[in-house]
Amino acid sequence: MTPNISNPDRDCMTPRWEPPPVGGAAAAAPCLSRIEPESPSAGSHLDLDGQIEASHRDDEFEGIIGTSKALRTVLEQIRTVAPTGSTVLIEGETGTGKEVMASAIHAQSERRNRPFIKLNCAAIPVGLLESELFGHEKGAFTGAVSQKMGRFEAAHGGTLFLDEIGDIPLELQSKLLRVLQEQEFERLGSTYTRRVDVRIVAATNQDLGALVMERQFRMDLYYRLNVFPISVPPLRQRPEDIPMLVAYFVRKFSKRMSKRISMVSQTGMETLTRYSWPGNVRELQNLIERAVILTASEVLQLPPLPVRLPIRTAPITLADAERDHMLKVLEESNWVVGGKSGAAARLGMKRTTLMDRIRKRGLSREAVESGFAMCR
Ligand SMILES: Nc1ncnc2c1ncn2[C@@H]1O[C@H](COP(=O)(O)OP(=O)(O)O)[C@@H](O)[C@H]1O
Ligand SMILES: [Mg+2]
Repeated sequence: MTPNISNPDRDCMTPRWEPPPVGGAAAAAPCLSRIEPESPSAGSHLDLDGQIEASHRDDEFEGIIGTSKALRTVLEQIRTVAPTGSTVLIEGETGTGKEVMASAIHAQSERRNRPFIKLNCAAIPVGLLESELFGHEKGAFTGAVSQKMGRFEAAHGGTLFLDEIGDIPLELQSKLLRVLQEQEFERLGSTYTRRVDVRIVAATNQDLGALVMERQFRMDLYYRLNVFPISVPPLRQRPEDIPMLVAYFVRKFSKRMSKRISMVSQTGMETLTRYSWPGNVRELQNLIERAVILTASEVLQLPPLPVRLPIRTAPITLADAERDHMLKVLEESNWVVGGKSGAAARLGMKRTTLMDRIRKRGLSREAVESGFAMCR
């Protein structure tokens, strides 16, 4: 069975672990008990298969995992725009899945049986970018030893995915605008005008609007690209997708490495869910690959994470700040709560009040040492 986007109606079939809401750990403890009936040793492990099975639907968005509202909104936008043939601009931090979304747009369009061509504008030296886009004739420049077709021609009838569009130098932007508007261009070193039928999906992790203000990006090109913008949210804004992604990547890598890994500890999953993931899904995928390499049993062994992991940078509430400060003081007092130099005295609280807050917020030394809870 292919793991895929969930049908929310089916989610209740398998009890699943649910992460605490963004911005605080307060709700963690009550959620954890939900998975206990499934755990081999009560309350300590999660069944990874359960995370995926509960999320399975059809093949509409194959390879896109997650059921968060934020992700479902993006998928709904893809569903809407894909068949129209319009230009799409996908914005989002690195590793959020922009390329995956671009490919889904192509796959759901009328052009799905024609080429899907990619070009990462940031990865090509500026001097070569023009020839990559439009092609060149033999002798067009030093080193042009033979004729070459550009990506626009290669994508004829299909979709051209222009990744990191914000990195296109100004001098090329006008040529790009022309081909977007007129669907025509010339190869370098040629006067013959070629016509193409190409749908553009562009992506950027920069704020193109800000680049326009700084005169780094042409306003007319920006408007031409910004016909249907889609913003892919960072992983820290959809932590509820993390358990499912973990399960998916564990399955993917354990299959490749011929291992049988079916569980992850609750603490481990908490650690993963609370981390801020600056590198988004790509970073999570790499971490799980490393974990699978390290694992020799059925329980996923997470690599030691640095204690001072950056926790989510998104809105810091007063409750977050209080939790962070409590953790800091608990660490400094070596988790000794009572006594003259204990954390309670340092925080100016009664020992029983602090104990109560620690319990309510589900804080523990173990969780900190496994990396999730430390403040900046
Ligand atoms: N929702 C998702 N489900 C499964 N894999 C994902 C998802 N989002 C991203 N990935 C994977 O994460 C990696 C980074 O995604 P990519 O589309 O290249 O990100 P971006 O282009 O935004 O940097 C890829 O290996 C991709 O397959
Ligand atoms: Mg990318």
